[in-house]
Amino acid sequence: MKKVNTPLKINSKIIKNRITFAPTVKFDWTDTSGIAIDRFAKHYEDRAEGGTGLIVVEATCVSPDGRLAPSQLGLWDDKQIEGHRKITEACHKHGAIVLVQLHHGGYNTHPECGPSKGPSSIIWREKQTLELSHDEIIKIRNQFIDAAIRAKKAGYDGVQIHACHSYLINQFVSPKVNQRTDEYGGNTQNRTRFGCEIIQGIRQACGSNFIVSARTPGAEPTLEEAWAIADAYIEAGVDYLQVSGGIGPEEINYPEGLPYSHIVWYGTKLHEHVNGRVPVSVVHNIFEPELVNHLIENNLTDTIDSARALLADPAWAKGVIEGIDYVKCRKCKTCFWSPHMPHKCPAVVVRHKSNPECVDYTVVS
Ligand SMILES: Cc1cc2nc3c(=O)[nH]c(=O)nc-3n(C[C@H](O)[C@H](O)[C@H](O)COP(=O)(O)O)c2cc1C
Repeated sequence: MKKVNTPLKINSKIIKNRITFAPTVKFDWTDTSGIAIDRFAKHYEDRAEGGTGLIVVEATCVSPDGRLAPSQLGLWDDKQIEGHRKITEACHKHGAIVLVQLHHGGYNTHPECGPSKGPSSIIWREKQTLELSHDEIIKIRNQFIDAAIRAKKAGYDGVQIHACHSYLINQFVSPKVNQRTDEYGGNTQNRTRFGCEIIQGIRQACGSNFIVSARTPGAEPTLEEAWAIADAYIEAGVDYLQVSGGIGPEEINYPEGLPYSHIVWYGTKLHEHVNGRVPVSVVHNIFEPELVNHLIENNLTDTIDSARALLADPAWAKGVIEGIDYVKCRKCKTCFWSPHMPHKCPAVVVRHKSNPECVDYTVVS
């Protein structure tokens, strides 16, 4: 049997294979209530039924003030639990383990949702930001913990903190945009304090069997600094790391001729550094079964995280594992920031033609 089809233990849960659905936000599927309507449950159920071992439900905001878009999913209110329960039940029916990604935009908060606030008052993407006070930091930390408690009530196997892609937790760890001089800025221990306090608080509130994961940058700004950040998260109690991009690496010499992207390479280096303390996942431009098998068989990663291949075809995992045909992602990037993602995805259009009920296709007016 190929290693991609072997189980992996994360905390006390067994994921049945090494393929995970990366978090992918769907703006405009719901309204400003942030409640997951039934369409979300069907969307995630399709990926679970399609053989995906672990599903990480999209960036879900812990506070209405930190949303990326007015219609982002939320877990800041008890009223939002029921919609998430439908997602977890739908995924569990097919044997998938399911986490939800907890998010706060920080500097990237949508102007209709709240001020652009983060660790420091800086110029960020040509706009002035505001510095969070100590009390505001504690309030947001507690919002992450409260959202995790709601996630547990909704039946999730765990949560993932969104600590990469330049959002709030990533802003704290980045020496480029965190200029604080208190205990949340300065050396690595201080810059990781916010993320670590969230991890520790969730662990304490949700118990030892609840998976706590972090999605963390592979180079921030150097590989070594990213490893130190990962070490701090492991020390604080994370069970699983997914490695992706961050605010930005400094000049790094990539080896030439790699069969995968530099973001995957960062992940393989972090995997090597972590050396089995917790499972590690890589992501970015992984579409072909040959590359999946290369990365897994050569022990360059523990799991393969895929967004676009699994948006294009919810049964991509079965395709990879069983060698059966699947609808291929065209790599056109239409899905990136498309307001009505993913019905404009050419692969979704193909699926819709053979299945008019295809939930991904529904056009939002
Ligand atoms: C439509 C879309 C939405 C995304 N939303 C999220 C998100 O909610 N959280 C996150 O961490 N990354 C998000 N990403 C990034 C993906 O999880 C992934 O890291 C990226 O697409 C690279 O993987 P891929 O090459 O398999 O698509 C999103 C990507 C896409 C295309």
